[in-house]
Amino acid sequence: TTTDKAGHRHYMSKEIAEQPGVLANALKYYTADREGRHLIEAGVDFTAYDRIVMVACGTASLACFVSKYWFEQIARIPVEIDIASEFRYREPPLNTRTLVLFVSQSGETADTLAALRYCTGKAGLILSIVNAMESSIARESDLALPILAGPEIGVASTKAFTCQLAVLAALALQAARQRGAVDAAAAQALTDQLQQVPGQVTQALAIAPQVRAVSARLARYDDVLFLGRGALYPLALEGALKLKEISYIHAEGYASGELKHGPIALIDEEMPVVVLAPHDAMFDKTVSNMQEVMARGGKIVMISDARGAARGGAGVWQQIEMPAVDGPFAAIVYAVPVQQLAYHTALERGTDVDQPRNLAKSVTVE
Ligand code: G6P
Repeated sequence: TTTDKAGHRHYMSKEIAEQPGVLANALKYYTADREGRHLIEAGVDFTAYDRIVMVACGTASLACFVSKYWFEQIARIPVEIDIASEFRYREPPLNTRTLVLFVSQSGETADTLAALRYCTGKAGLILSIVNAMESSIARESDLALPILAGPEIGVASTKAFTCQLAVLAALALQAARQRGAVDAAAAQALTDQLQQVPGQVTQALAIAPQVRAVSARLARYDDVLFLGRGALYPLALEGALKLKEISYIHAEGYASGELKHGPIALIDEEMPVVVLAPHDAMFDKTVSNMQEVMARGGKIVMISDARGAARGGAGVWQQIEMPAVDGPFAAIVYAVPVQQLAYHTALERGTDVDQPRNLAKSVTVE
């Protein structure tokens, strides 16, 4: 059945391993075929809005943050992101040219639901992206779209996060086409890149032994910093969140470029720095940030690809070599080592991976 562990030690590892299948399924529904047709045409006219406001909690809010890069860079539509507990009490101004988008695995998170109710009658469209379609958030939205991840039991979200990203990426491509932000050839090239993600996730799962070896070392530290740029910046936040949630190691995520404005003061050999560094347009800037860390005796865990390792790997403490991922969707593929790092580090520390202390799968009270 879908709710046993299928031979895995934990639901979390089972759900990590399921990602190629559920992502391929979600993308089959949401991406256009060669004729530009969708099995699920979102039914949203993205030309009717001047901006998107995305609201969620926890890992779902970080999925929103990653997708802000895609909606703004590819579809050229401004996106604001907020966490529901702040949004709901700020009384943010809304109008009918605003699309509000709620992302929730459970569809029952109290703060997210309250934020949605605030928007009722004020926004142009209330769209939700949920895993549980039989949920309050799905019911109270103008339109609810499923992420098709299947049941997620582990408290720390994994496959729901990457399926949220896949659906958001596909919607960003639909928005880009509708708004004429990309021509047909560019749209097709981006669709092709998105459709390669499940295969790249399979390749990323295959490097688990490398991630496990790094985790055995990471487990000895009490503080870890995660860095990334672009869409990998919110993924750095997610890496820190996952690690603290299940291993109880203190971790922080930062934009690589912000390092010099604070966290660099903490750098010494006692705080490993995990750098999410695919060989992309920002790579050289990331390498300079790594050098700033190493010049102060900091230990770098570099997660990159073969080209990145060849060009920027000198002097780093640990390396994890990912498959090459071209295009804007690398954050989905890099979610895999980020999840595995948290999982294996937690196993090393002997914590309860599926039921971390003080956390709940779904927070239905404020
Ligand atoms: C809890 C869970 C997180 C989840 C967050 C939002 O904190 O432990 O994994 O990201 O709620 O949940 P939702 O169901 O709204 O996605």
